[in-house]
Amino acid sequence: MILVTGGTGYIGSHTVVSMIEQGYEPLIVDNFVNSKPEVLDRIEMITGKRPLFYEADIRDEEKMEQIFTEHEIEAVIHFAGLKAVGESVSIPLEYYDNNINGTLVLLETMKRHNVKKIIFSSSATVYDRFNTMPLTEESKTGNCTNPYGWTKFMIEEIIMDICNADSSWCGVLLRYFNPIGAHESGLLGEDPQGIPNNLMPYICRVAEGRLEKLSVYGDDYPTHDGTGVRDYIHVVDLAEGHIKAIDLVFRSNGAIPVNLGTGTGYSVMDVLNTFMEVNGIDVPYVIAGRRAGDIAECYADPSRAEELLGWKAEFDLKKMCRDSWNFIAKNIKQS
Ligand code: NAD
Ligand code: WQD
Repeated sequence: MILVTGGTGYIGSHTVVSMIEQGYEPLIVDNFVNSKPEVLDRIEMITGKRPLFYEADIRDEEKMEQIFTEHEIEAVIHFAGLKAVGESVSIPLEYYDNNINGTLVLLETMKRHNVKKIIFSSSATVYDRFNTMPLTEESKTGNCTNPYGWTKFMIEEIIMDICNADSSWCGVLLRYFNPIGAHESGLLGEDPQGIPNNLMPYICRVAEGRLEKLSVYGDDYPTHDGTGVRDYIHVVDLAEGHIKAIDLVFRSNGAIPVNLGTGTGYSVMDVLNTFMEVNGIDVPYVIAGRRAGDIAECYADPSRAEELLGWKAEFDLKKMCRDSWNFIAKNIKQS
């Protein structure tokens, strides 16, 4: 059985669906700080199976001990964490406590129960902003620009240290680039609370008419059209990457960082124009100033993932834009 922390969240829920579809038995622990119980119903609607679930905070030592005692856990996929960059600057202690303490409690419980296989949700944000593109796993890390990024950097370090101290551990550190898109059914996806920070959720809010216009943060970057370039990846591709990482973690030792991206960069205007074209919706926008902390471009060299995981992203930007909107359109709230 594989424990999935944060399994009702955006990436976790898609991964749980892929796991069930491919014969794995996920056990989810989530405290719903950024997700809803109805996600469990949705997973069941898609797969015909309701995953085992505990409502718990991963910082709760007793509860974690109970979960590991009651189940034969062989490996952990660790998604649980807070992830809003801007919020992490305003409330750093909450981020360090939730992400780092949560991971420490998880790792200590794993150690007590002799579970030594972990797949961790890391991020392209661990890379130093002054690297040249594309980013390989050997590119420099650190120099993070916000507490959220530092939590990912530090958790990677902690897992590397554990793997160094005991060679029977394996930690696969999956560095996600920019996940967007949603399950094709429209039953799972991302709909953040409050005003979204990330590009695709913001575009969807404007398309819904709940926000007036998108601000494009800067059109004077040294990119093909002056707007920021990122490596957007469909969340279902990302979920499949985790399935391949399960195979890798069971047959390997040590800490293994792996980029999960497509290797192709798209600009803000590429994303916006594709969204409008495939969905037939006009999304008003204005060019605004650059956002603090942003870089011109960020995209992966995904060759290690292909080599070690036998995995490559399949879905293109059109499908990412269609599926993102399909989820929102099917779940529009009356407000
Ligand atoms: P999400 O917020 O949708 O999912 C995280 C889940 O973890 C939520 O369901 C939340 O309720 C749960 N959670 C948080 N703290 C918890 C705690 N202490 N105990 C139990 N449950 C807890 O986020 P996501 O986009 O699915 O991201 C999943 C992971 O991937 C996160 O660690 C995130 O930092 C990382 N990541 C995300 C992105 C991205 O752009 N979405 C990019 C790189 C890395
Ligand atoms: C993408 C592009 C913006 C909003 C963040 C985190 C990173 C990772 C993924 C977790 C940039 C532009 C955005 C808007 C815009 N998450 N933009 N108007 O900043 O690449 O990465 O999410 O690990 O750590 O930092 O993603 O979606 O915020 O921005 O023009 O309203 O869209 O400037 O060029 P980012 P994003």
